[in-house]
Amino acid sequence: MDRSEARDFFRDITPMAPMAMGGNLPYRRLCREYGAVRTCSEMVLAHKLVKGGERTLVRHHPVENDFGVQIAGKHPEVMADAAVIAVELGAQFIDLNFGCPIDLVVRKGAGAALLKRPAKLAAVVAAVRAAVEVPLSVKLRLGYAEKKLNVVDLAQRVQEAGADGAAIHGRTRNQRYSRSARWELLDEAQRTVDIPIIGNGDLLTPWDLQKRREETCVRSFLVARGALKKPWIFQELAEGQPWDPSIAQRWAVMRRYFDLACEHFGDDDKGLERVQRFFLWHLKFWHRYHPWTEADHAEHWPESLMQARNPSPAGDADTILLASPEETDHLVIWQRILDQDYPAVPSA
Ligand SMILES: Cc1cc2nc3c(=O)[nH]c(=O)nc-3n(C[C@H](O)[C@H](O)[C@H](O)COP(=O)(O)O)c2cc1C
Repeated sequence: MDRSEARDFFRDITPMAPMAMGGNLPYRRLCREYGAVRTCSEMVLAHKLVKGGERTLVRHHPVENDFGVQIAGKHPEVMADAAVIAVELGAQFIDLNFGCPIDLVVRKGAGAALLKRPAKLAAVVAAVRAAVEVPLSVKLRLGYAEKKLNVVDLAQRVQEAGADGAAIHGRTRNQRYSRSARWELLDEAQRTVDIPIIGNGDLLTPWDLQKRREETCVRSFLVARGALKKPWIFQELAEGQPWDPSIAQRWAVMRRYFDLACEHFGDDDKGLERVQRFFLWHLKFWHRYHPWTEADHAEHWPESLMQARNPSPAGDADTILLASPEETDHLVIWQRILDQDYPAVPSA
């Protein structure tokens, strides 16, 4: 693939972000049913992949025809070897993680720690570029700390080192998820480089995307927590309109995940145990779904609704149950999914 084709691979798209746990294979499939593209593995540690580990994390489903593997590490040679293995195992693109904020990763000099070492970061990109032909993206943040926002410089360096695209989460490492993402620096980065910048941070509604399109020259958009709250967000973003599912439709979405998870993990006792673990994990995000309106969006802007507190749920018993943060309620939901004890979606 020539480099201009590889750049096009990341242009004008709205992919699902790499997410530990959240980007499990059945959940990626669910999101793809609503239009997610360029689905990506959870973060994989390069040194483990090279030693024969991380194999379950790099598996993908045949419907994921543009699946990528995200690799984290700091040694250029190990990262290059890991990328070659990922491609041999079916990766259609490679994403390099320079954004992971977790202490365990950062203390070892990987993930977001490399934001502080631009030359080393570029050396990793160059080594991987030399090792694989597939499209290569990187995942950056604005910088490590507020004092030094160096993402525009980093975007130039990764372009020079051979990256075909750069996803940027509009926050620093130290900021974690506090305050809204700052998109003006993503705009500046895109004005500085030719490779597509894939903007990331706080996309939750179709109006967020519309605003970012109007206010920046970023044209690709990466979605993480929005997809965990509502896997149908990709449909909303593509259509430019919200989809507020009925309660029956929300049960059907959960049941669809259950079925995909059973297909992947198995529906024997051992498989179901894993399905339950993932299902309960997802409920921690699903229960936070709220049908925000355009008026809510306008009222909050430029702060993101991602940072807003949901109003107390009102409505029938199921509306309240599905909004509950309580683990006991999540077990009730799980049991009702197993028993298929929920309202059916009326046929059209
Ligand atoms: C549960 C969870 C797991 C994540 N795991 C990863 C990961 O493995 N690799 C990565 O680059 N980013 C990871 N992220 C960060 C997201 O990809 C994304 O950059 C961040 O959440 C901001 O986007 P959002 O505002 O759309 O959520 C994770 C985020 C969440 C919520």
